[in-house]
Amino acid sequence: MNNHHYTGLINKYRNRLPVDDKTRIISLNEGNTPLIQLKNLPNKLGWEHEIFCKFEGLNPTGSFKDRGMTMAVTKAVESGAQAIICASTGNTSAAAAAYAARAGIKSFVLIPEGKIALGKLSQAMMHGATVIQIKGNFDDGMRLVQELSSTMPLNLVNSINPYRLQGQKTIAFEVIEALGDAPDYHVMPVGNAGNISAHWIGYSESAGQQCGSCNLCAGQCAFKDDVISTKRPTLVGYQASGAAPFLRNEMVDSPETIATAIRIGHPVSWDLAWAAQKESTGWFEECTDEEILQAQKLLAESEGIFCEPASAITIAGLLKDVERGRYQKNSTIVCTLTGHGLKDPDTAIAQSEAPIVVEAKRDEIGAIISHHL
Ligand code: F0G
Repeated sequence: MNNHHYTGLINKYRNRLPVDDKTRIISLNEGNTPLIQLKNLPNKLGWEHEIFCKFEGLNPTGSFKDRGMTMAVTKAVESGAQAIICASTGNTSAAAAAYAARAGIKSFVLIPEGKIALGKLSQAMMHGATVIQIKGNFDDGMRLVQELSSTMPLNLVNSINPYRLQGQKTIAFEVIEALGDAPDYHVMPVGNAGNISAHWIGYSESAGQQCGSCNLCAGQCAFKDDVISTKRPTLVGYQASGAAPFLRNEMVDSPETIATAIRIGHPVSWDLAWAAQKESTGWFEECTDEEILQAQKLLAESEGIFCEPASAITIAGLLKDVERGRYQKNSTIVCTLTGHGLKDPDTAIAQSEAPIVVEAKRDEIGAIISHHL
């Protein structure tokens, strides 16, 4: 095989991840996602920032979860596990199901009944997971999978599993490689708060600095000798107004938002995310469902990038905070677009104009085109 063939993030970054030569890597060639510079939106709005989107929707199962799942399932298999379990708002369950299929082990996923996007449900079902819909929300599911995995032969693959964060930290490596250094700001949605913690681990390691967030290496960062950036970015986390424990400074018992991926009120990585915010001198901000949907549509129509609502909160947040002057002038800003828009076709269709239905006649169609030209 050609040496340049990309075979996934564990192979690419194996000296910075907890694997050795004997480890059987479970991969779908995840990672290596495009960093796309926004052109039309900043032009239109007169923004003096360089804005890039790290489009994680182009991972094998359509979200950033694949970065963590390749690592978690690799380590589960290494430990002899025959089955994995997770609670999920959808994307984790899709990734868990796919990587379990790849590994040849069983997967069990707990999802909130009626509150996960159709594409994500179809993935978990298609990959052969045992899909258990609970009459409760993600936070209830999270509590249950922790209980179940402590008494049954199940490996827990939610981001409370530190190997998940190890895999997810690689997004920082890729951004630094693409830009030549860390950006000034890195912006992302926050739900269970594993991803913001993972970003901070990755950026800290890359700058040769210790991070308070790193609970796997207990402050012994993986590659102090392999520094690739001169600085760490300021991290900014956006939450949906109805599910914003970091804005309320307390857990939220009945989270609600159209962005079902981040419909979470009791984030597991609470302390890690606060550490990331404080150490990076960043901030949390909230956006309403209306702002999220408008931003999703705006990004899709103005740049050709279709991300899911939870991911679009980064653009909604920028629209608010750039206008307020919260970002320093002439900054480089990276947004993590966590999942693909195709994950949630119902929400996309509901907010778009319905297709025009006509007879299959040239003149009728021609008239419509003339009207719209
Ligand atoms: N964006 C998307 C598309 C997500 O699916 C999630 C989390 C997040 C953002 C938030 O990331 O939890 O690390 O703060 N989805 C999880 C799931 C909870 O079950 O798929 P986080």
